[in-house]
Amino acid sequence: MDDVSDGSRGAIETQLFSAEEIAATIERLAAAIAADYRGKPLVILGVLKGALFITIDLARAIARREDGPSELLMDFLCVSSYGNRSRSSGEVRLLKDTSLLIAGRHVLLVEDIVDNGLTLDYLRRLLAARGPASLRACVLLDKPYRRMVDVPVEYRGLHCPDAFVVGYGLDYQEGFRNLPYLATLRPTVITD
Ligand code: PRP
Repeated sequence: MDDVSDGSRGAIETQLFSAEEIAATIERLAAAIAADYRGKPLVILGVLKGALFITIDLARAIARREDGPSELLMDFLCVSSYGNRSRSSGEVRLLKDTSLLIAGRHVLLVEDIVDNGLTLDYLRRLLAARGPASLRACVLLDKPYRRMVDVPVEYRGLHCPDAFVVGYGLDYQEGFRNLPYLATLRPTVITD
C-alpha cells in the first residue's frame, strides 16, 4: 500500500489541512479578491499542474459572489521545476503558455504553493513584460521562511509548515494530487 505511484493513502503521515479547512480558506480568498476586483474584468491564470484544483475552486467561489468582477476569464499555463523530485531543480521550465492575450487586462496568478519563490518570480516577470493592467498572485500555501527570491504574494491562504506536502493538487512523483486534503508523506516514502 506504500506504492508512491498510485498515490496510496498508506504513505500519508499527517493530515495538515482538511478539505473543510481548504474550502474555508478559499472562501476567504474569494471574498477578498471579489471585493478588490469589483466591477472589473478579471483573468484568472492557474499554474498547472499543482494549482488545478485551487484555481477551479477559487474561480467558482468568486463567481458565486454577486459583488465580484464584471467578467471572469480563465486560462492556464504550465511550468515545472521539481520534476519527479522532492527538491527544486532551480530551473523553471515553461511547458505551456497562456492562450489568452493579457496585455491591458487585470491578471491574477493562482498557485498551489510558494516555496523558494523561483517559480512565481519567473511567472511574474514573464507576464509583467506583456503589459497587463495589473498583476497579482494568490497562493494557497506559503512557506515564507524558504524564500530564495523576494516575490510579492497579494493573497495568501495558509502558512505551510516545513515539510513536503501533497494532496489537493500537490504531488510527489505525480501521485497524491487527488487527495481532498493536504498532508505530509512518511519520510521513508521520499527517496530523493
Ligand atoms: C510546484 C508548485 C509551484 C512551485 C513552487 O510546481 O506547483 O508551481 O513548485 O515552488 P517554488 O516556489 O520553490 O518555485 P512543480 O514544479 O512541482 O510542478 P507541478 O505544479 O506540475 O507539480
